[in-house]
Amino acid sequence: MSESTGKPAKAWGGVFTEATDARMEKFSESISFDSRMHEQDIRGSIAHARMLADVGILTADEFAAIERELTAIEERIVKGDFEYSISKEDIHMHVESALIEKLGDVGRKLHTARSRNDQVSTDFRLWIRDAIDRLDVLLADLQRAFVGRCDGDFDVVVPAYTHTQRAQPVLAPHIWLAYVEKLQRDRERLADCRKRVNTTGLGAAACAGTSLPIDRTKTAEYLGFEAVAANSVDVSSDRDFAVEFAFDMAQIAIHLSGWAEDWIWHSTVEFDFLKLPQTFCTGSSIMPQKVNPDTLELIRGKTARVIGNLQSLLVLTKGLPLAYNRDLQEDKEPIFDSFDTVEASLALAAPLVAGTVLKRESIAARIERGHLDATSLMEYLIRRGVPQRSAHGVVGRLVRIGLDSGRALAELSLDEMRAVCDAVDEEVYNYLGAANAVKAMKSYGSTAPDQVRFQIDAWKERLGL
Ligand code: ARG
Repeated sequence: MSESTGKPAKAWGGVFTEATDARMEKFSESISFDSRMHEQDIRGSIAHARMLADVGILTADEFAAIERELTAIEERIVKGDFEYSISKEDIHMHVESALIEKLGDVGRKLHTARSRNDQVSTDFRLWIRDAIDRLDVLLADLQRAFVGRCDGDFDVVVPAYTHTQRAQPVLAPHIWLAYVEKLQRDRERLADCRKRVNTTGLGAAACAGTSLPIDRTKTAEYLGFEAVAANSVDVSSDRDFAVEFAFDMAQIAIHLSGWAEDWIWHSTVEFDFLKLPQTFCTGSSIMPQKVNPDTLELIRGKTARVIGNLQSLLVLTKGLPLAYNRDLQEDKEPIFDSFDTVEASLALAAPLVAGTVLKRESIAARIERGHLDATSLMEYLIRRGVPQRSAHGVVGRLVRIGLDSGRALAELSLDEMRAVCDAVDEEVYNYLGAANAVKAMKSYGSTAPDQVRFQIDAWKERLGL
């Protein structure tokens, strides 16, 4: 309570003659979620105070006291010995008022040449930067889990699908490395996003900058920011960096969701390609035989929320006028939620990938079904001078004979094949069958065993395996 007016004291309360409505206070608080940024808020405040001392706005002693008390506040928060109250709205007000409680007027100087508008942007950027670094570690762990399988699974030939129809045979590690490539692009996107996140708005103050002689390059340096944003109005309103991060997380979730979908199917009795580790499955309360792939289903299911969070941020920022608007307080929960979801999904995906067993016999027993070697046969004919369109037609007719008589292409006799196309000779059998079709591959990036070996080795090197 302020003694003179009897209304609750607010940092911004001077002009007010009436207390805030309690319902409004509850509606507008952000401490219930932005307390997550306490470490960043305090790091940012210490850097700001250090800069204020550099330029002579604070004395060295004042800075030392502020740094000491802010550090003590951080320790209290970490210990759980710090009280939050919605009357102080957000983490910025909590930290500042705790400082003022300890230091009085010296504490009242901390907010010099700063507004919560540039402060919240700084805290959020620091938080997202840390989050990006954490996700990069987890993405690399998952890449290692896939690459770590490749040697052991090297000789296993599996069907690759297009349109969910058996298409061509490939080496199992070729599939694993397809996921590794996607995860690599996720990492590259995050690294690119990090550049824009790692720009400081601190010193933009509310929206116009300040008449005080601050040095924004100093705070940038103290906080490890690589660039100083050049327009204070832009800083106050900019949330591109958060939207971009939300997209990057949505793309990771979508990649995980696609992988989860594949493995859910591939672990069914119908496919029988994979045995998932039981530690990541659950049973049924009524059907005793069930081992359900819940982890994969939840990774797929939670992707919906991560996509929704991106949508929330896009809609939140659409049509917002310059510069800061309180709407922007709504930016944090979607980001925190996406991060928590993607972080947990990645952390589970890596051990699940490492612990899954490929069911070699079951895969091998059906690998010759579906005429996966048809393209191999077509290319054999092309090498023997048959134009591609004609070769396609020939192989189509041979597949038809196979389908009608229940045989694989390798089971057709030379005479049967020559009756359709006299370019066929006995060498054809070197190109028929799933394993031969894989061996015949040549192009860069294909499933040719030497290409796959080259890629595995390159990934091992990149990932420090
Ligand atoms: N709680 C606010 C947020 O998260 C802090 C910034 C408030 N700025 C203001 N001018 N009211 O966005």
